[in-house]
Amino acid sequence: MSVDFLLTGAGQLVTCDPGLGEGPLGLVEHGAVAASAGTVVYAGPEGGLPDLEVAADATRLDAGGRAVLPGFVDAHTHLVFAGDRADEFAARLRGVGYEEALAAGGGINRTVRETRAASDAELEAAAAGRLVEAARHGTTTLEAKSGYGLTVDDERRSLEVLASLAARFPVDVVPTFLGAHLVPAEHAADRDGYLELLEREMLPVCAPLARFVDAFCDRGALTVEESRRVLAAGRRHGLGLKLHANELGSTGGAALAAELGCVSADHLLFCDEREAKALAAAGTVAVLLPGTSFLLGTGRAAPVEVLRDAGVTLALGTDCNPGTCYCESMQLVVALACVHGGLTPEEAVLAATGGAARAVGLAGQVGLLAPGAACDLVVLAGRSYLDLVYHLGVNLAAVVVKRGSVIAGDGAPTGGLRGVGGEAV
Ligand code: NIG
Ligand code: FE
Repeated sequence: MSVDFLLTGAGQLVTCDPGLGEGPLGLVEHGAVAASAGTVVYAGPEGGLPDLEVAADATRLDAGGRAVLPGFVDAHTHLVFAGDRADEFAARLRGVGYEEALAAGGGINRTVRETRAASDAELEAAAAGRLVEAARHGTTTLEAKSGYGLTVDDERRSLEVLASLAARFPVDVVPTFLGAHLVPAEHAADRDGYLELLEREMLPVCAPLARFVDAFCDRGALTVEESRRVLAAGRRHGLGLKLHANELGSTGGAALAAELGCVSADHLLFCDEREAKALAAAGTVAVLLPGTSFLLGTGRAAPVEVLRDAGVTLALGTDCNPGTCYCESMQLVVALACVHGGLTPEEAVLAATGGAARAVGLAGQVGLLAPGAACDLVVLAGRSYLDLVYHLGVNLAAVVVKRGSVIAGDGAPTGGLRGVGGEAV
């Protein structure tokens, strides 16, 4: 067997494939990973490596006894926006709630104004900076939404930025159309008119640039009926369905996500047993965003026992956005999922890899280290995946590999990423 990537010396190899090792994370001691053309051909004990013909110019890594995990999959981001809302965040620390800021003309509407005002180059540079930060922290696949344009041209522009990032950077970007993030301020008196515009003009232009359609179904955003209409229209355009559900209140979003067979229902800070059972029966993944619930500051996290007992698949995302959670690091999200969200470290690691892959329609392709999957991995600056929860506030991604090439960390250009061809990007 001929390979062009060989990693040895993994003190703990976290395959996230229970068939390949111990426990739910499929742990292997003294592990190795071999890959050919970006695809894993072997993941398991170093002693069990098959006879390999290693290409002369192969990438060879010695993990030096450190832990090795699949690259993180971030199942939910809002990467494309201009401006910031640091002042609103500071006000929240003084007790001004997220919904109050929105009602006072701030919130999403404010970022929409700033995003529309940004030049194409400014908007792309802002999103690119966040993508690079995510990759430097070990994210090798991420979902990213439009949703701060809310006109035909600005929604298209946001999705074009994502297409450009996907072409420029060695990170898989899964684009989602979120023209239903909010009914924008100028349509406040004509909500139906906006939905009409979304259906008749935005979707035909945006659907070819997206893989999923999403709606913010919540208090102060879209109603269940409005969200149903948007998702049904997206489905007619061939898009998979996602839903922001029950973040701010128990507003029926979780039940709608299950009813429509959404691939994921995201947030779920409010979710009762019935809703959780419906999600499990529909095969809808619960995307938990513990950075957001932590920073909303209400003390509430998604009810993980209810979701766990119902057998719902869990995923994690950063929700990287200017309002509720400005964070690109899946490492921090894994830690918060445990210390704030009530997940076990094993649940959190699985949710940040295989679970998130399911939530973005890439199950079995990314988020695990097994033959046939993408050779996307992180060498941790630590001996165990437990360091992600235990050793906070530093970047533990010592080396980040995408499709068999080192893209960040030791050996990659400072401040930027290395393209899959080795060039600085
Ligand atoms: O997921 N909930 C909707 N969207 C974001 C917040 C967006 C914003 O405040 O700008 C979220 O929390
Ligand atoms: Fe979100």
